[in-house]
Amino acid sequence: MTKNRDIEKLIALARAARKRAYAPYSRYAVGAAVLAKSGKVYTGCNIENAAYPSGLCAERVAIFKAVSEGERELVAMVVVTSNLGSPCGACRQVFSEFADDEAIIVLASARGKRRKTYRMREILPDRFGARDLQRKPSV
Ligand code: THU
Repeated sequence: MTKNRDIEKLIALARAARKRAYAPYSRYAVGAAVLAKSGKVYTGCNIENAAYPSGLCAERVAIFKAVSEGERELVAMVVVTSNLGSPCGACRQVFSEFADDEAIIVLASARGKRRKTYRMREILPDRFGARDLQRKPSV
């Protein structure tokens, strides 16, 4: 169970991460925070590059930090933008790899109280996953 106060803590951490966004090209700053089943939180910001496709979204920075620290199960993800911007398809797919149908995704505004809350199953319906592959994942 992810409690409201967990979500409020994630929002505060994602807002702080957003301040570290490196987005000189789009000028669109994004902050993210993911909560792992272990109880630990990992944050990320978008990091752009002069070679545009080499940049990465805030959500994937946070998710990859979590997985690289040994996490495999993520229960919630918060994304903070100026305007409640929605996570891109690639970030939904990457989150989906480590999240079950009931995992929570919250979009929050950088300032004020605007929020949108989704479950994994609604933000990426009929998602492609390990069960669609012929071979079972080995690790
Ligand atoms: N961006 C994110 O960080 N997350 C998303 O889900 C959508 C887009 C970033 C990528 C780029 O640095 C900027 O926002 C504009 O697309």
